[in-house]
Amino acid sequence: MTHKHAKALNETVQALMAPGKGILALDESNATCTKRFEAAGVQSTPETRRRYRELLMTALGSENHISGAILYDETIRQATSDGVPFPTLLQTRGQVPGIKVDTGAKDLANAPGEKVTEGLDGLRERLAEYHELGARFAKWRAVIAIGDGLPSQLCCEANAHAMARYAALCQEAGIVPIIEPEVLIDGCHDIDRCEAVTDRNLHIVFQELQAHRVLLEGVILKTSMVISGLRASKRAGIQEVAERTVATLLRCVPAELGGVVFLSGGQGNVESTQHLNAIQQVAIGRTPWPMTFSYARALQQPALEIWGSNQQRAAEAQQAFVFRAQMNALAACGKYSE
Ligand code: 13P
Repeated sequence: MTHKHAKALNETVQALMAPGKGILALDESNATCTKRFEAAGVQSTPETRRRYRELLMTALGSENHISGAILYDETIRQATSDGVPFPTLLQTRGQVPGIKVDTGAKDLANAPGEKVTEGLDGLRERLAEYHELGARFAKWRAVIAIGDGLPSQLCCEANAHAMARYAALCQEAGIVPIIEPEVLIDGCHDIDRCEAVTDRNLHIVFQELQAHRVLLEGVILKTSMVISGLRASKRAGIQEVAERTVATLLRCVPAELGGVVFLSGGQGNVESTQHLNAIQQVAIGRTPWPMTFSYARALQQPALEIWGSNQQRAAEAQQAFVFRAQMNALAACGKYSE
């Protein structure tokens, strides 16, 4: 079956996966953004959120390292202080505007401790509006927790099913779906456990995508790395994370997929960069899809801390953000060194 938007989807994938660039996740929900702002000492209002996101999106030089930005519903409707709508700002900087469309992870009935991501109701209409506003890619995040007897097959299947329906609707609207089945880093599990869970979950995700006739060339997978739990008694080193991550992706991800991007998922800023760099070095000549970063916290944290301490320090905050973007862009080519 030829997809009616195959060409447009392919062009968006190429733009997002341009060599030496990665994606900025700027799509924190108001609740998440408020948590991050409060930790940094900033009051969270629509205007402070707008100012902070303007600061990041206008940072000079970041356009050399950032191919696109994922916005939140509030943000895609906002504009710079001079009145330039954020999607237009991104386009004029040669960056692709994106939009988070899930409405969050809610408790999954009959599955204590597990969540299912919602947001399918009315999605076709919302996607049409977001396309009108300039969005050319979207994001949907599911969370898979590792714990005693977790994740359940039920949780993996329910999330994969919703994600496949989302992906199909995105492609119908000419929007590239980023699917983000995040295996959470919380817990004391070792890297073997993370590898087994990631492997099983990715197989289920791709089965569902195929069942829903999703065009894999027009999909980007946003994945967690294969990594030890934060409270593991002995955490695997950088090289092992890289080798396990690449091996798992090679086993589970079909060759025709448009691209793979990584989330930082609570890793430190520098740690996320080091891991990405090692992954690229291990992957050279072995992986059929391009790979890069799509970080939120690991790109933003130093900038948010500076700006949070004193909003007059906007220029310094921008420099800190551009620096992390540049380091991650080097890592995306396997050329980062401390
Ligand atoms: P982190 O890089 O902070 O994990 O965020 C990525 C993201 O988009 C989560 O949905």
